[in-house]
Amino acid sequence: MPVQSVDGIPINYVAAGGGTRTLCLVHGSGGSALSWIRQLEGLAEAAHTVALDLPGHGDSGGDGRRKIDDYRLAVWNFLESLGLGRVVLGGHSMGGAVALAFALSHPDRLAGLILVGTGARLRVLPRIFELLESSYPEGCALVVDDMGFARATPQGLRDGARAVMLGTRPQVTIGDFRACDVFDIMDRVEEIRVPTLVICGREDRLTPPKYSRFFANRIPRSRLVVLEETGHYVQLEQPDRVNAEIKSFLATLP
Ligand code: COA
Repeated sequence: MPVQSVDGIPINYVAAGGGTRTLCLVHGSGGSALSWIRQLEGLAEAAHTVALDLPGHGDSGGDGRRKIDDYRLAVWNFLESLGLGRVVLGGHSMGGAVALAFALSHPDRLAGLILVGTGARLRVLPRIFELLESSYPEGCALVVDDMGFARATPQGLRDGARAVMLGTRPQVTIGDFRACDVFDIMDRVEEIRVPTLVICGREDRLTPPKYSRFFANRIPRSRLVVLEETGHYVQLEQPDRVNAEIKSFLATLP
């Protein structure tokens, strides 16, 4: 996988496809670019698709950040260093918060915004912090196995997502959840004018559909898709539906 030096830190990323349209995808708390593996496979014909490991995650170097805005800056620096101009930016969960912060700071750099299983405010259950801090594997099991997926999701998907979080240093994952816990742009969502696709799972317990409806009601050029029998890891649970929605969305952009 290619590595780009960004401010002296090696940032790992996966890229697929080509063409003039770039889609950049940002993972969630304790995650990695692997959370977009099915989109990298399925969207290569539709766009030059790039998924990065945020600092401190996956195979990237450096440390995790403590604020969403610091991750927003890391993504901006990454895009700058690759010379990627205007992009469609997508994010899952904490990655969605990063994409939202980016949309507020650099609206001119976005052709579109894709929000997957995320929210404008991301308060975190105290129990998640307690378990991640006292027994990291149990904390990961709570987030991924107990709360992350729809009831009917095959165990293999849960195992894969849990393995990624277990492979992330506990302090990085805990820092991510702390960054989410203080993230709140509820009163700024209406400022977002870029075309936006909002996708969530009906059974999402970490960022319930209410959070996505909030976007759809306030972002003028938005489309909301709520997927049945789907939890928080929407893009892993329903890759074909998510890819089809993203392709249709990309086709509507100028
Ligand atoms: N979009 C729309 N509405 C939101 C929202 C969002 N992103 N975030 C919160 N709200 C709403 C809540 O639904 C609630 O509405 P209500 O008063 O009508 O019930 C209100 O704003 C206040 O909610 P919140 O700020 O979350 O505080 P709380 O003390 O009610 O609940 C938690 C705190 C942690 C229990 C709750 O946020 C939760 O269950 N979170 C989901 C689980 C989790 O930990 N997710 C991790 C996300 S990274």
